[in-house]
Amino acid sequence: MNLRAPKGTDDILPPASRRWRVLLRSWDDWSERFGYDLVQIPVFEMTEVFARGVGESTEVVQKQMYTFTDKGGRSLTLRPEGTAGVVRAFIEAGGAGELKASYAGPMFRYERPQAGRRRQFYQVGIEYLGTDSPDADAEVVEMGYRYLADIGVPGLVVRLNSLGDQECRPHYLETLREWLRERIEQLCEDSRAALPVNPLRVLDCKVCQPIVADAPSPVDHLCDPCASHFETVKGRLDSIGVPFELDRRLVRGLDYYTRTAFEYIGTELDAAQNAVGGGGRYDGLAEALGGPSIPGVGLALGIDRIVLSTEDTADLPAVLDVYVVVADAELRGAALDLLSTLRRAGLRADTSPEQRSVKAQFRAADRNGARAALIVGDEWGEGKVAVKDLRNGTQLTMHSEEVAAWLSSR
Ligand code: HAM
Repeated sequence: MNLRAPKGTDDILPPASRRWRVLLRSWDDWSERFGYDLVQIPVFEMTEVFARGVGESTEVVQKQMYTFTDKGGRSLTLRPEGTAGVVRAFIEAGGAGELKASYAGPMFRYERPQAGRRRQFYQVGIEYLGTDSPDADAEVVEMGYRYLADIGVPGLVVRLNSLGDQECRPHYLETLREWLRERIEQLCEDSRAALPVNPLRVLDCKVCQPIVADAPSPVDHLCDPCASHFETVKGRLDSIGVPFELDRRLVRGLDYYTRTAFEYIGTELDAAQNAVGGGGRYDGLAEALGGPSIPGVGLALGIDRIVLSTEDTADLPAVLDVYVVVADAELRGAALDLLSTLRRAGLRADTSPEQRSVKAQFRAADRNGARAALIVGDEWGEGKVAVKDLRNGTQLTMHSEEVAAWLSSR
């Protein structure tokens, strides 16, 4: 077959996909614990949502969007990220009060594919809309940290910075622009082009890192309200025991950020792709989309990178409570009825799709990590089955009606 998955995309099959399931379940659990409700948004949006939201001067909008014209002549774009879409949805729904949104799904960026940098990748994220309280920033940073620590990302570090707001940022940008102009000869072509439009892009440029190492940082140019907001965020994080490092260079690759910006770094990953997640505050985003002023803060984590960073831990086996072994082909119908009963009772139960030797069925039970095997055979005439504990090898016989309760109690 010469048909292949498109460049930069992955098929996630068992057993590797079992780790994904664990990570996504844990994400649901942690985001619910922090009070974030599920929000589903389209996988594609009007191109304007990202052009205005993420920002015309960003690499994402300039080079990485999957944009197409649909049959109705509209310009649409596969979402490169979730924040702009969630804010668009909140405005469309009236934008009143607060929204704590949790989302998960594939995102699309036309990147040069490599490990941890894919054209289709999977993000989980939260957005806390309708408040500019620094307590919300601290909560968001904490939630991402607790989740990543819980699933065991090795060498997890939180990097934190503040980017200022519409009051102090323009002054800072002027200072930065001046500083960069004095070194324009040393900057790469992309950075020179970005300088008049958005000099922050230069700080983010991989090529220009050595040159900008001593550039002025936004955190040294905060106005009083931004400085005090940042102090409160740091104080709260200290108080709830979330460790962080101040990173004066951190600016993030998307234009909507104001004030708090942060990233989660996993040390097991290549330096270029070592961010397992990132986020920040974006108090001007709703207005940039043409809506009212709605402050917000959020984060997104890259599941593909999290899987990479925890890859050393072997693929997980399937976990079944019970595997139904059909010892006699005549009893297959009865065994399948019993299987259905077990599943409806909440047990993780399975069997082979067709009649095979008993030995082959026990091998399958093992392969699937079953805790017990239930053998439908000789005793069926008396309404009984044999249950074998596959961990210690003990076996007992019981009435088929007792099986579900017995297995559930183990
Ligand atoms: P971002 O930093 O562009 O932020 O992406 C967040 C995470 O998604 C990254 O740290 C990385 O783990 C993963 N990621 C990004 N691009 C790729 C890729 N090409 N391949 C694999 N993984 C990737 C955002 O997207 C913002 N929406 C985060 C946010 C939410 N800010 C506020 N709220």
